[in-house]
Amino acid sequence: MDEVTNELKTVILYRSKHHGNTKKLVDAVAAAHPEITVIDVASLGKREYPDLSPYHIIAFASGIYYGKFDADIRRIAEECLRDGDNVIGFITYGGNDKHNGRELSGICRLKFANLLSVYGCPGFDTYGPFKFVGGMNKGRPNEEDIAGAVEFYDRIVKDYGQIFLDERAKRDKRDAYNREHPTGGLIAGIKRSARKLAGKRKDSGKE
Ligand SMILES: Cc1cc2nc3c(=O)[nH]c(=O)nc-3n(C[C@H](O)[C@H](O)[C@H](O)COP(=O)(O)O)c2cc1C
Repeated sequence: MDEVTNELKTVILYRSKHHGNTKKLVDAVAAAHPEITVIDVASLGKREYPDLSPYHIIAFASGIYYGKFDADIRRIAEECLRDGDNVIGFITYGGNDKHNGRELSGICRLKFANLLSVYGCPGFDTYGPFKFVGGMNKGRPNEEDIAGAVEFYDRIVKDYGQIFLDERAKRDKRDAYNREHPTGGLIAGIKRSARKLAGKRKDSGKE
């Protein structure tokens, strides 16, 4: 492991409820990187939210169900992400549409988190009418799909790992400063703005 990999903390939150297709990607990435924390969101209670603050990379992995990431994954992303979080996605899907994580991208934008990229591949699908024809995408994800997921993760770490570490150090510093200098809430904020405005008026009177 190089220095960046050594320091970088990654969590993968996954849901793989149809055929374990997405789990195959997750297992391969985790096997190549035993330092990664893996959480099956099915093991969490409805009000149980993981603490994502230690992680430099937050990966959401899911099958596509009714055109979207799993609902629990979306709920956790909405609840737990914060500004400056770095997010990647892994998806498997049955149809032709590559989905590319558009709703995850919306959630990230709302939370001021950065969605870097989403890796996706077809997954065996026997949902609805497909079960009558023996299913779609038999044998997928295959070895190549699975190796692709590991390569994708490795590339993210290689290209962005150091940037993630640097940006996190800055965010931690900012958080520490804000903790030491509490703004004092809404009333204090209004008073500060009023003082600023009054000051400006005084200055403009001098000119
Ligand atoms: C309830 C359900 C809904 C699905 N909806 C879609 C869909 O809208 N679009 C699509 O491409 N695949 C859809 N699929 C197929 C899955 O995305 C695909 O099989 C995926 O690989 C499942 O991953 P998993 O085994 O990790 O759960 C659906 C599957 C199920 C069970």
